[in-house]
Amino acid sequence: MKIKHKFDGYAAIYDEWFMENENLFMSELKLFLKVLGNTSNKRILSVGCGSGLFESYIDNTVVEGIEPSMDMGSIAEKRGINIIKYGLIEDIELPDNTYDIIYFNGSSSYIENLMPVYEKSLAALKKGGKLILLDVPKESAFGFMYLLGKSLKTYNHEFLENTMPKLPYPLALASAGIWHSTEEKINVLKCLDIEKFLFYQTLIKNPMYTNEEPEEVSEGYKSGGYVAIVAEK
Ligand SMILES: C[S@@+](CC[C@H](N)C(=O)[O-])C[C@H]1O[C@@H](n2cnc3c(N)ncnc32)[C@H](O)[C@@H]1O
Repeated sequence: MKIKHKFDGYAAIYDEWFMENENLFMSELKLFLKVLGNTSNKRILSVGCGSGLFESYIDNTVVEGIEPSMDMGSIAEKRGINIIKYGLIEDIELPDNTYDIIYFNGSSSYIENLMPVYEKSLAALKKGGKLILLDVPKESAFGFMYLLGKSLKTYNHEFLENTMPKLPYPLALASAGIWHSTEEKINVLKCLDIEKFLFYQTLIKNPMYTNEEPEEVSEGYKSGGYVAIVAEK
């Protein structure tokens, strides 16, 4: 029997949402490019690479991908990503001491138990390699909005009247999320003996204004609606 994954059936909607929220996408893309840095001659793994949308703005021939949803992954493959395995990261074995960078761009927000997954990823990194986690923090305005939408089962509620972006993230995908706070992820990594961290953020404006113009990346994690943790092994 074919398992239905969270993003099956949403690949086109996911990409269209970013294309319609072009300035929000540009802000997230700037953060992605900043934390990835120079990718040439590096071995890189994207966990939950989705449709490979962000990777289509870099030399994606250096990126290997893991993705549970065939709908998403088949688009990534068309865009040039080498999907090494279709499946959940929880179920996939990774080789030890192999990668320079492993990143989760938005995928930690769909994973319940982060500890074993980050432990596995750290083992697969070379010494000095980087585990990069980009996500909407649970504690951000975006996190609150998604959790409120999830619990109300709609964004069209009087509590949210005149507060919402024109085209909010699809409710089904917001509701499927297991939103984690940034400090929850930092604490998991600290338990796994990681001591060296860098933090960057974007989407500082409240969600209803986020798509007005692209934002710059700033250091830190306490204000942004999209935050990157860069953890060095
Ligand atoms: C928000 S999307 C991000 C996709 C892509 N990284 C991007 O930035 O456009 C989250 C992705 O994580 C994938 N995902 C969800 N649970 C996963 C898991 N347990 N292991 C690996 N990927 C997972 C989903 O299928 C989806 O493609």
